Amino acid sequence: MTLRCQIPGASYGIHIGSGILADAPRFFNLGRKVLVVTDDGVPPQYAQMVLAACPDASLLTVPGTESGKTLAGAGLILETLLERKFGRGDAIVAVGGGVVGDMAGFAAAIYMRGIDYYNVPTTLLSQVDSSVGGKTAVNLGGVKNVVGAFHHPSGVLIDTATLDTLSPRLFAEGLAELVKMAATSDSALFARLEACSDVRSCIEPFIADALCIKIDVVQQDPTEKGLRAVLNFGHTVGHAIEAAGQGRYLHGESVAIGMTYMSSGEALERLEALLERFGLPVRADFSTDTLMKYIASDKKKTADGFKLVQVSSIGSYKFMTAGADELRRIISSRK
Ligand SMILES: NC(=O)c1ccc[n+]([C@@H]2O[C@H](COP(=O)([O-])OP(=O)(O)OC[C@H]3O[C@@H](n4cnc5c(N)ncnc54)[C@H](O)[C@@H]3O)[C@@H](O)[C@H]2O)c1
Repeated sequence: MTLRCQIPGASYGIHIGSGILADAPRFFNLGRKVLVVTDDGVPPQYAQMVLAACPDASLLTVPGTESGKTLAGAGLILETLLERKFGRGDAIVAVGGGVVGDMAGFAAAIYMRGIDYYNVPTTLLSQVDSSVGGKTAVNLGGVKNVVGAFHHPSGVLIDTATLDTLSPRLFAEGLAELVKMAATSDSALFARLEACSDVRSCIEPFIADALCIKIDVVQQDPTEKGLRAVLNFGHTVGHAIEAAGQGRYLHGESVAIGMTYMSSGEALERLEALLERFGLPVRADFSTDTLMKYIASDKKKTADGFKLVQVSSIGSYKFMTAGADELRRIISSRK
């Protein structure tokens, strides 16, 4: 199945299927110099399959994990491109999760003022979310994604067979982002998730439906001026939980808990039930003061306050801008 993301200045296919990685040349223009970038936590066979499909490709394996998503990490990619004499017509293929995709995409955005890159996302989170939309970034001074650029991939290849090697915990983390999209924007998708007894074995249509939501939002708001903030449902409190937990909760787990603070009534009941069924946490025992301390340094805060997404009915949402006092009230009212 192929979806398409079309925004001014970029139009690219998102190819989804099981076992399609070996067909990469059918989807990407690999008949040029290619740097395949992966990280040391990604099973090497995926990058090897891409390499085998390219006539003139070389490999760069960067240290994985969020702490390696830095200017130094991007610098390593840039230096490798330069050493290997990449020109403006050459390309990068990022094989891995959101860390590799964001960092390789950022290097592609700034090398010679922009070269092509392709995304081969291999975590569920990157397949349903980060591989599409053109946000590339690295972290700086402990602040996530604070240095970045909008630079869309020239194509995305989602081989769902790569998820076979993903741990149940990382798979569940990706489900949190999938649930996020359904809860705000697609009640039928949410109901299908509720009804499915084994999401892992039939993930492909769920990925496609989540991406349709993401593409729709990105096409309407390519540079995050307004609507795109819906994708941040659960993220304001989620980021605070992630920071306060100091490694205890993964990003998706923190977002899962964060979403419950921003939901109410029947939507909250259904959300909690679905997240728990997926093995995700729905509560954390941090005090309101602790969460507010971390929220105070949220880089998305504007002069008006925090732009929050609230869900009181599954499949729809409303934006609200809350000052610190209002947000404190919302957090402390979570039962
Ligand atoms: N650009 C965006 O729009 C956007 C959106 C959401 C998140 N993000 C970013 O995405 C990043 C998180 O991405 P992630 O959750 O994919 O984490 P990740 O890239 O760190 O991957 C998680 C771990 O899984 C390993 N891995 C990758 N594929 C695997 C596979 N198939 N089998 C086994 N292990 C595998 C990785 O090596 C890593 O150790 C964050 O940096 C976040 O800021 C970006």
